[in-house]
Amino acid sequence: MEVPFARPYFTGDEGAALADVVAGGWVSQGPRVAAFERAFAARVGAPDAVAVSSCTSALHLALYVSGVEPGDEVIVPSLSFIATANSVWQCGATPVFADVDPLTYNLDPAAVERAITERTRVIMPVHQLGLPADMDPILALAAERGLTVVEDAACAVGAEYRSQRIGSLGPLACFSLHPRKVITTGEGGMIAVHDPDVATRLRRLRQHAMDVSDLARHSARDVVIEHYPERGFNARMTDMQATLGLCQLELLDEILEARRRLAERYTAGLAEAPHVDPPYEPAYARRTWQSYAVRLRPGAPIDRLELMHRLLRDGVATRRGVMAIHREVAYAGFHAGLPNTETADREVLMLPLFPGLSDDQQDYVLERLATHVVALAA
Ligand SMILES: Cc1ncc(COP(=O)(O)O)c(C=O)c1O
Repeated sequence: MEVPFARPYFTGDEGAALADVVAGGWVSQGPRVAAFERAFAARVGAPDAVAVSSCTSALHLALYVSGVEPGDEVIVPSLSFIATANSVWQCGATPVFADVDPLTYNLDPAAVERAITERTRVIMPVHQLGLPADMDPILALAAERGLTVVEDAACAVGAEYRSQRIGSLGPLACFSLHPRKVITTGEGGMIAVHDPDVATRLRRLRQHAMDVSDLARHSARDVVIEHYPERGFNARMTDMQATLGLCQLELLDEILEARRRLAERYTAGLAEAPHVDPPYEPAYARRTWQSYAVRLRPGAPIDRLELMHRLLRDGVATRRGVMAIHREVAYAGFHAGLPNTETADREVLMLPLFPGLSDDQQDYVLERLATHVVALAA
């Protein structure tokens, strides 16, 4: 049996919606992007949302409008996709890696506090794999020390922290719409924004800081000469992507429900499994289950990489857990001594999970996993 690792979820109606956009001729950033932004903001509980070309661009622009400059420091987890740190580097600033909580694998607020220096400007918690970070202590710490919080919510569209939607906490939360995420536009990102002036600036910055949008100029009845009050970037989303995004938003509840059901089935199936721990579930969170990550306990009779190889030979695609950025050559020398990060980097692997994964496929994954771990234990 073949079990892919992930697959985006479409109904089949998306093609017709996209064909309409192409037939209408407005394929770059225009009315559909504006409609997608409104729908997205309403869904995540933010006053506004600004669409961009990726979550990496979203993070970069969110840091930029937070005033992050060369010489500044931004506190991030090392246990994250490398884009988290790269967005800091794109501002010319320095990522400072803080350790994660050993159970949630999200930023440990006490480690964040220890990492603060006089150069710190922003704390960037990551809601890793769609599990919200423990935001209350992080927001309290930021308020106390005069720092801004920019959330890396790449995997957290639809997640909740203590019954508050991720996106509603403010001031800036950045989401990914890559196909590996909860909903997708092919490539794309969204910034949930609480300050209207910041939203206006973000909308300019994403198109070279031009002070008039293509849509406004196109709709004007007079000649419009644009101006550039500052330097900007090109991080535009297209109307084709936004159309796909609008279709996906309508499926979000169904996608979240399917993911939750599959995750619960995995957790039940792993209850008796030797050497493998299901993901920790803090009471404060309603997560998206963007991925299902298990921990291979120390002392397990099989090495994680060997287990992944064996599962792949059986047709089951897995991935290592979240990477540790500071262990990559690109960030060599940045930090050592992140014990919880390094343990997670060694022990965690992710099992296939996507809407459309059948119960038979899932049972096969569980059976193969148990067979390899137990067979070697015997
Ligand atoms: C935690 C995290 N941050 C940022 C990103 C970057 O997202 P994008 O590919 O949309 O730029 C990802 C994507 O994998 C991610 O997992």
